[in-house]
Amino acid sequence: MKLNIAAILMLSVCSLTTVSAKAADKQATDTASNVTSTCTGAYPSYFQDPAFNKTGMWDNQVIINQAYSGWKGPIFSLSDAYSSAQQDNAAPWLEFNPFDKSLSETEKNTQAWKYLWAVMKYIQEGNIDKGDISKDWDLCNNKVRSWYHIPYQTYDPMSGREFIHGLTREAPVTMEIKGQGDLKTTMWAVGFYNPQAANSIGKVWTGAPSPVMPQQNFVFNEGSVIGKLLFTTATPNNYPFLENVPVWQANISASDFCECKNADGSACSFQQETEQCPRSVADVYLLQFDIAVRDSRSPVGWAYGTFVADGQFKAKEKNPWDRISPLGLMWGNDTPPATVGAAAFPQNPITGLKDSAVFQEVVGRLNEHTNAGHLGCNGRLNGPADNALSSCLSCHQTASVPDSTNNTPAIMYQFASYQQPGSGQCLTSPSALDLSIDQVYFKTFMCSASFVGPSNIVPVPKYAQGQKEWISTDFSLQLSISLTQWQEWQEDQDNLKKNIKVRVFEGTLPSR
Ligand code: HEC
Repeated sequence: MKLNIAAILMLSVCSLTTVSAKAADKQATDTASNVTSTCTGAYPSYFQDPAFNKTGMWDNQVIINQAYSGWKGPIFSLSDAYSSAQQDNAAPWLEFNPFDKSLSETEKNTQAWKYLWAVMKYIQEGNIDKGDISKDWDLCNNKVRSWYHIPYQTYDPMSGREFIHGLTREAPVTMEIKGQGDLKTTMWAVGFYNPQAANSIGKVWTGAPSPVMPQQNFVFNEGSVIGKLLFTTATPNNYPFLENVPVWQANISASDFCECKNADGSACSFQQETEQCPRSVADVYLLQFDIAVRDSRSPVGWAYGTFVADGQFKAKEKNPWDRISPLGLMWGNDTPPATVGAAAFPQNPITGLKDSAVFQEVVGRLNEHTNAGHLGCNGRLNGPADNALSSCLSCHQTASVPDSTNNTPAIMYQFASYQQPGSGQCLTSPSALDLSIDQVYFKTFMCSASFVGPSNIVPVPKYAQGQKEWISTDFSLQLSISLTQWQEWQEDQDNLKKNIKVRVFEGTLPSR
């Protein structure tokens, strides 16, 4: 009975089109075999893209992110022809169903493992066949099916895409290395969207300079697939499992997570950021590969999964991009009862999590020499690059359209500007407030649902049109970020017209 209600709700809340497993099965055709480039140049490819010099976007900055003369490596192009994306019929992951509640623990894990690899192979097709690691994942001319990036992760000087592979700066990660002490590192990442996903993105980013701001909860099409490569500045000397994994050159700021600081404590301008955090070309190693699939069989409509570098164990693997192992797949947050904190629920995180499959043997291998095998809150899924007090879905279900003050809900309560000091999510001795924070951040939200909660935990948005709930970007934090960065640029443009030249990033980016 319960199951039926959930199924009906899901159809009405999030599914626009349902691809039946049968229809999608094995009909993989090379519909895109006559591809023309999907990189149109409609939006800046990277932060300080010279093609956008005349817009004023990079005025009053030190140029730190353009190819220098003599640069012979790749230069990143944004794949952005969203509206021309052709529906793709291949969906090999539909052969597996880890969401089936009648499965035993072992069967669930087997289904999840196969599901993850089916998605991975699908994402790799046509993207990694260049015979040169540094040319892989150039999305412009994929001959199997077209793939796309999100635009406008290019305005913020601190995180903006670098010019070689389009990587954006992510979280600072302090690594604990047995026998070597702590090491401060930075993650740099890039995400890819399949045709179904691109088609949805094209409703916002139409190719016109300005996006169509969603006025109601945004929906990704059924069958949308997103992949995301995450590279670390740590090396195999620090992390032995990074041996043999793909290495890229990237134009990055200092690896210990450069921060801009003014002596008087005032916020840095864009100019100061480019002065204080210059970039240079350095090696980064593949540490994590995230996936997200819009799959109506999942109780939330999405499946989130991740792979981690496993280069020593998989040294004999021919394809370097396969020297990774699945860490897990999740489709819910295993919400605790109201009187128990998320840190203590379930009692046994190894056997008690119902809304995910986590591969403990991979976790064990990562933890042998480092702390990289950490998961999220009480064993909930997340990767070595992610915050241990969170989970994939906990962060992603907050994803929202920025309001008129260019704010979005905090991806973690601990990062909220309105945080009650000492309070937070996933705490081991939770106060009454902490318990209600867990009820929000570890609630299992549906796809395309507003992120809601008491106003001291989820502040009321200030949308120009008056909506009182956050407008969902359907779990996509990149879509949310792209809109935030674009809004920031709009405000700055208005200021430039008034001859106000000093730019400070005033919106909230989901920094970690
Ligand atoms: C602490 C918060 C946090 C956690 C935990 C987290 N993510 Fe993300 N994720 C982000 C942010 C912020 C972005 C957008 C930044 C970017 O990719 O450039 C993002 C982007 C992504 C994207 C690209 C598409 C999108 O949503 O914008 C995927 C796919 C993804 N994450 C998957 C995962 C998976 C799988 C996990 C768990 C293994 C995970 N994430 C855990 C914060 C988080």
